[in-house]
Amino acid sequence: MTTTNASVRKAVIPVAGLGTRFLPATKAMPKEMLPVVDKPAIQYVVEEAVKVGLNDILMITGRNKRALEDHFDRVPALEATLEAKGDTAKLESIQAASNLGDIHYVRQGDPKGLGHAVLRARQHVGNEPFAVLLGDDLIDARDELLSTMIEVQAKTGGSVVALIEVEPSQISAYGCADIEEIDGEGYVRINKLVEKPDIEDAPSNLAVIGRYVLHPEVFNVLDKTEPGRGGEIQLTDALQELAAGQGDGHGVYGVVFRGRRYDTGDKLSYLKACVQLAIDSDDLGPGLRDWLPGFTAGLTK
Ligand code: G1P
Repeated sequence: MTTTNASVRKAVIPVAGLGTRFLPATKAMPKEMLPVVDKPAIQYVVEEAVKVGLNDILMITGRNKRALEDHFDRVPALEATLEAKGDTAKLESIQAASNLGDIHYVRQGDPKGLGHAVLRARQHVGNEPFAVLLGDDLIDARDELLSTMIEVQAKTGGSVVALIEVEPSQISAYGCADIEEIDGEGYVRINKLVEKPDIEDAPSNLAVIGRYVLHPEVFNVLDKTEPGRGGEIQLTDALQELAAGQGDGHGVYGVVFRGRRYDTGDKLSYLKACVQLAIDSDDLGPGLRDWLPGFTAGLTK
């Protein structure tokens, strides 16, 4: 089910992070440009937004991020060269990135945290619900998540987060949700959200992943949110306030995702994501499948 929902039209993608986990690869290149198989990671995220009708995309950028703008722009000289050679496949592959939605950019300025980055979208988004997609999480294009979240937002009128079940030992890396089932519904009510709790304080093993569909009331809350965990303005803290409060724009709901998610946030997960996606690709999959078992068993080089 891929739906276009008129009530949510805009996607916000924070990309101002320094990418320190990937140094030295990210010394002069945005981490979002690291290739995952044959496309930069950020392209998967923009494609996911466009697929559900979010054609208006705002990236919250910072220094050293110009390559992102270049990637989604046209390159007439390269297009002309490929056209002259008759290399239609490559021509289409570069045009695909520049034909994706209407992409806008605003700089974050100070690196004050995810909540601060989202607040920078206020003027562009205005008074309508919007999606936030974090680039470290890739959702398999064969699975539905964002479209379901958009439906839940329309139905509840609140804000919606995406949740996955993690090993209890992993929960301190995520926002964590205390939830309540709602009879007959495929989504849950969020009673409480805690940003990166210690294992012993975690209310559950349900982790918030990088997809949100938010009511614009979140901007009013973020405007007043004090720095939290790590001294940063946390989106989770603003959402906790929306979950706890009453009235228009309050209420937070969760969609538990059980599909394929690839974490590209650190070196090991990134390598796994590359292998997982390559193994499923038509052109690279067969060769990789042939080679990988022998290689890991130490039988082949
Ligand atoms: C952010 C959020 C966290 C969430 C995570 C999902 O953390 O603050 O609540 O669980 O994204 O990827 P980050 O990974 O940016 O530190």
